[in-house]
Amino acid sequence: MDKVLLLYSGGLDTSVMVKWIQKEMKKEVVTLTLNIGNSNLEEIKEKAISLGVSDAIVMDVKNEFADNYIKKEIFADGMYEGYPLSTAIARPLMAEKAVYYAREYGCNTIAHGSTGKGNDQVRFEVTVKAIDENINVIAPVRDWNMNRPDEISYAKKNGIKIPKDGKYSVDENIWGRSAEGSTIENISNPLEDDVYEWVSPLEETGNGETVDLEFVNGIPHAINGNEFSLEEIVEKMNIIAGRNGIGLINHMEDRVTGIKSHEVYEVPGAMAILHAHKMIESLTLNKYEIDLKEYMDSQWSNFTYNGLWHDPVMEHINDFECSVNKYVNGKIKLKLYKGNMIMKSIESDNSIYNYEKISYDNSNFNQDSARGFIDIYKNNTVYTNNARKQKISVMQ
Ligand code: ARG
Repeated sequence: MDKVLLLYSGGLDTSVMVKWIQKEMKKEVVTLTLNIGNSNLEEIKEKAISLGVSDAIVMDVKNEFADNYIKKEIFADGMYEGYPLSTAIARPLMAEKAVYYAREYGCNTIAHGSTGKGNDQVRFEVTVKAIDENINVIAPVRDWNMNRPDEISYAKKNGIKIPKDGKYSVDENIWGRSAEGSTIENISNPLEDDVYEWVSPLEETGNGETVDLEFVNGIPHAINGNEFSLEEIVEKMNIIAGRNGIGLINHMEDRVTGIKSHEVYEVPGAMAILHAHKMIESLTLNKYEIDLKEYMDSQWSNFTYNGLWHDPVMEHINDFECSVNKYVNGKIKLKLYKGNMIMKSIESDNSIYNYEKISYDNSNFNQDSARGFIDIYKNNTVYTNNARKQKISVMQ
């Protein structure tokens, strides 16, 4: 009998799926639950077992998530429409593990809990197919068209304990927390306070605090002089930046399925780390590197958002990002205050900033040459305007 490997969160959707696959599709189910945030793996495993699955695999992959996915996003200053990608970088990891365990446990089908309107179905399915085209993928929530009341009555009929789902649809991992649905869907409705969990309201933040972040080869590796793993740095920065009101993003977003949606993100650690990273880049990379990097970064973010993590072009983009990030070393002192991040000081052994050349206090820079430089530099603009008899009007 063919078995199905189900990416299982323990929530209502995926619990209903277990029973549905067993009863209606007449297939055995193996569940896979990955902790990339704060999932209670033991509790979820017990729940899966109580639903009669043949195996319930649970794994903590936070470290791997930080070292192989968040790291690449920091390299690429990953942002989509102004927010750091969090859900989008977790999906490839989940799909890859699903393929691995599907093979291990003899499952020819992978099931996930995404709906038909969002990005995640695209990310899961393209990733699975990029790795192994012969694995079937099913998304029962999308395919049955069941709504919540249908699911609740199915759950009751089949003895599934109905979890107390929150008001919003939340996706969370250590890099960010995203909320959508419910009252967020009505965009004229002011955001309600119960959306936020990670970022303190500005009224409740104090006098701010100063934090030193040190980067080695593009990756933060110490906070206030103490070294930590990337996973720990992200978690610590979520707390430090979150309590200073940093990282709340309430915006409209363009999904890959062509619809606009209203989403709320809490990304305090990610915002602080990416801001610090960009500041160190501005000190250690030259203008041409920065210009090219901006283009590569935006491509990286679009491909990642759009579910194309394993498109071959990503290998080239990641190679560029890795190469340029070897110069992104140094230390920055940031004052975090009521949602602001103010640079207090910055230093780097790879600094390109040249005090001698820039200072008005000395004559190390040959200002005489500037006249000749401008005389030639102007030519492109002046000759073109002359050729076109361009009149540029000037006003009083
Ligand atoms: N729209 C975001 C993205 O595609 C996040 C969606 C996460 N899901 C949720 N139910 N909050 O990256």
